[in-house]
Amino acid sequence: MESPLVLVEHDGPVAVVTINRPDKLNALNLAVLRALTTAFHALLVGEPPPRAAILTGAGDKAFVAGADIAEMRALAPAQAKAMSDTGHRLGALLEAAPFPVLAAVNGFALGGGCELALACDFIYASDRAKFGQPEVNLGVIPGFGGTQRLGRRVGVGRARELVYTGDILDAQAALGIGLVNAVVPHAELRAKVLEVAHKIASKGPLAVAQAKRVMLRGADADLAVANELEAQAFGGLFGSADQREGMAAFLEKRKAAFTGG
Ligand code: COA
Repeated sequence: MESPLVLVEHDGPVAVVTINRPDKLNALNLAVLRALTTAFHALLVGEPPPRAAILTGAGDKAFVAGADIAEMRALAPAQAKAMSDTGHRLGALLEAAPFPVLAAVNGFALGGGCELALACDFIYASDRAKFGQPEVNLGVIPGFGGTQRLGRRVGVGRARELVYTGDILDAQAALGIGLVNAVVPHAELRAKVLEVAHKIASKGPLAVAQAKRVMLRGADADLAVANELEAQAFGGLFGSADQREGMAAFLEKRKAAFTGG
């Protein structure tokens, strides 16, 4: 029997989603894109949904070495546009999830792999990780959001340089430009990202969800509109049981027991 292209494990409130095509360095063909989309849809409607998710790649070498070049090479323009749309829908799905999605980049994150990591809330990298947008080497440009999200993450000057040159950055260089939050010894990556995910999962889930939404949607709005989004979300949380519990627990000097209500 063929192994599934995407594996989903649950570690208490944390879901771990693993792209499982290691013989092709987890390259994103349409089947993998569909399987990832299905996996995240299932998490969204989970009963209960996770409070945090981790996205990583199977094997020791790659997170994702890009969109599948063998599958892509013969695409007609309309098919390539549709493939780009599929990648964008997946990125939007990760961003719309009410729980943070952390990228655990365990090796190559090139092209679509770097773009997928950028659609996650933030990135932790193995000390063996490599990042880049090498599409210009293939005569194309990033198609899964790289021309847009990379600049928003690291600044447009750095993003332009990476996209125009196709240069590959090692983990330390990626840390230096703020593409990744931390670099971790390879063997410790999963444990470290699980620790961060569990810490997030222990907080008020409605608060984390609202923080994610406001920080994402506000980033492209003008400051007054963005601050209005914040005020609305802040106010809304005062109708939640978690707000009452969180503040009561502080004042009673005990640990809060959040329910997500
Ligand atoms: N699309 C399709 N197949 C890919 C792939 C991709 N993006 N990246 C790697 N693979 C496949 C290789 O063709 C090879 O398959 P094979 O064993 O059937 O020949 C297998 O994965 C292993 O890759 P290989 O190139 O042998 O590994 P390596 O360690 O020598 O090199 C890379 C690793 C990442 C440097 C190299 O695979 C590479 O440059 N990949 C393409 C990166 C890229 O341009 N991505 C952007 C795409 S838009």
